[in-house]
Amino acid sequence: MTTAKPSPAVGAPSHDVTDLGLAPAGIRRIEWAEREMPVLRSIRARFALERPLAGVRIGACLHVTTETANLMRTLQAGGAEVALAASNPLSTQDDVAAALATEFGIPVHARRGEDRDTYYRHLASVADTHPTITMDDGCDLVSLLHQERQGQVAEVLAGTEETTTGVVRLRAMAADGALGYPVIAVNEAQTKHLFDNRYGTGQSTLDGILRATNLLIAGRNVVVAGYGWVGKGIAARMAGHGGHVAVVEIDPIRALEALMDGFQVLTHTQAAAWGDLFITATGNVNVFRREHFAAMKDGAVMANSGHFDAELDLAALRELAEGHVREVRENVVEYDLGGKRVNLVAEGRLVNLGAAEGHPAAVMDMSFANQALAVEYLVKHGRELEQRVYGVPEAIDAEVARLKLAAFGIELEPMTPEQAAYVASWKHGT
Ligand SMILES: NC(=O)c1ccc[n+]([C@@H]2O[C@H](COP(=O)([O-])OP(=O)(O)OC[C@H]3O[C@@H](n4cnc5c(N)ncnc54)[C@H](O)[C@@H]3O)[C@@H](O)[C@H]2O)c1
Repeated sequence: MTTAKPSPAVGAPSHDVTDLGLAPAGIRRIEWAEREMPVLRSIRARFALERPLAGVRIGACLHVTTETANLMRTLQAGGAEVALAASNPLSTQDDVAAALATEFGIPVHARRGEDRDTYYRHLASVADTHPTITMDDGCDLVSLLHQERQGQVAEVLAGTEETTTGVVRLRAMAADGALGYPVIAVNEAQTKHLFDNRYGTGQSTLDGILRATNLLIAGRNVVVAGYGWVGKGIAARMAGHGGHVAVVEIDPIRALEALMDGFQVLTHTQAAAWGDLFITATGNVNVFRREHFAAMKDGAVMANSGHFDAELDLAALRELAEGHVREVRENVVEYDLGGKRVNLVAEGRLVNLGAAEGHPAAVMDMSFANQALAVEYLVKHGRELEQRVYGVPEAIDAEVARLKLAAFGIELEPMTPEQAAYVASWKHGT
């Protein structure tokens, strides 16, 4: 593989990864993912010719996976200098981090299983590169710059945000008048949340739970908390494996949607006693807590696919177990609550990344195509934007869908001139 190897931005440690010796395995897996990412590949080829990101410094806080590696390569091909930190302590693929640091010359700061201090030190290393564009998954980099490095905020032209929880945080910042530059919410592209959140998380959450537990889903009572894009994907996949699925919600419309999609809707309290497997995907805090844990069956399994490890009240779980906690399998910890045991997968962190490989590359192809095109748009238009959260321009969304269909070899027949005139007119009636 031939790749440009730019030197890291001045002042930044070049990398902090677990084991550079893992790089060959990482390179092979990055190349495997690349095969499933035709849209990003086509953008990379164009970027290499046009160099639209020349002179841009991108500070990225993303899950360090094979798909992210291909996004970094695309941005680099466009002429950007890129530095990367993990957006979750448990999601880093150490072989990928090693490959990025060596083969691709990208300053990467990420070690799987890093503690909280290391996580924030790694974010600080990315901030030290003085990014002019931020690319976040969960808003931690934006939050760090605005809370601890206000002097640097003015250096940033704009940012992008990958996930629902990050967008929620950014909107709260904008409402407080605290957001210092415009951010494009990549999550809001239809070619992102309709596919990544639903099909990507649906499949990879199942994958993570199965890899960690080897549970048979068929015949089991599966509780899905939150029927947003992620919850819908998880519920559908669990039902597809023969699970009896119940949804818990706080939003009556989403609850009704779940009901009409064929799932039971229970209260959290009813669900606690009914479920064998619990999966949270709400973006909220303490969705299942002390009273729910106390009501659960012996052997219940809990996992989270929401962004932060705050959806299950882990402090209460630890208190209830009074120290009777042991790892029973890789990525599964058992809490003995006095006569019954409940199990937690991947420490309550994103189970699809903690216990599996995250989303399949084919779906990240669209999410990261949006990221790359959003950055290109911001380089051209960022100065015209206000300090608030923007959606992805419709033209980018449509282009990503068009390129993805083309990669599947699918063409659409355009409207006839008669049809175009018909739908544009208000004069036709019965
Ligand atoms: N694991 C992954 O790879 C991955 C991928 C995409 C998004 N996410 C994260 O998953 C979470 C959900 O994302 P989404 O796009 O589905 O969001 P969403 O806003 O579409 O859906 C969240 C749903 O949770 C419901 N909810 C909120 N509080 C609740 C509570 N206490 N009990 C039950 N339901 C509650 C809301 O009413 C809403 O319907 C976010 O944290 C997002 O960042 C994770």
